[in-house]
Amino acid sequence: MANFKVNGIQQQLDIEPDMPLLWAIRDELGLTGTKFGCGIAACGACTVHVNGIATRSCVTPVGAVEGTEITTIEGLASAAAGSNPSAPDLTVVQQAWIDHQVPQCGYCQSGMIMAVSSLLAANPNPSDTQIDQSITNICRCGSYPRVRKAIRSLTA
Ligand code: FES
Ligand code: FES
Repeated sequence: MANFKVNGIQQQLDIEPDMPLLWAIRDELGLTGTKFGCGIAACGACTVHVNGIATRSCVTPVGAVEGTEITTIEGLASAAAGSNPSAPDLTVVQQAWIDHQVPQCGYCQSGMIMAVSSLLAANPNPSDTQIDQSITNICRCGSYPRVRKAIRSLTA
């Protein structure tokens, strides 16, 4: 049995502790905004927040997040539902993403936004080096320059 909160709602799931959190989120809870890309912690498409920290859910067993608060892209829109109230409101991040036309195919972007919101909650004015070190998500469409511009539009 696994117990954790997802987007503010307590969950109790009859699943094995070694099930990747990504599958619990997608298959057990039906929250498909969190994406599968590589399955080996390389791409970041599966990024969620665990107690506010950006975490690659494809390599995180549910047994490791027992008792935590998890936020997915679906929950980020509501600060009350999220586990990280200091994270920028999703509508603000979304508007920056729209203004800078960041998404191309869009597949990587929910993970990208989760990573960026976690970074900005911890550090509202990151340096380019800090952005490079924190936002290691892979985008096969090459949206990196647009991601950088969108982040810069959100920083102090
Ligand atoms: S699917 Fe998790 S990092 Fe790629
Ligand atoms: S926008 Fe297509 S993979 Fe990033």
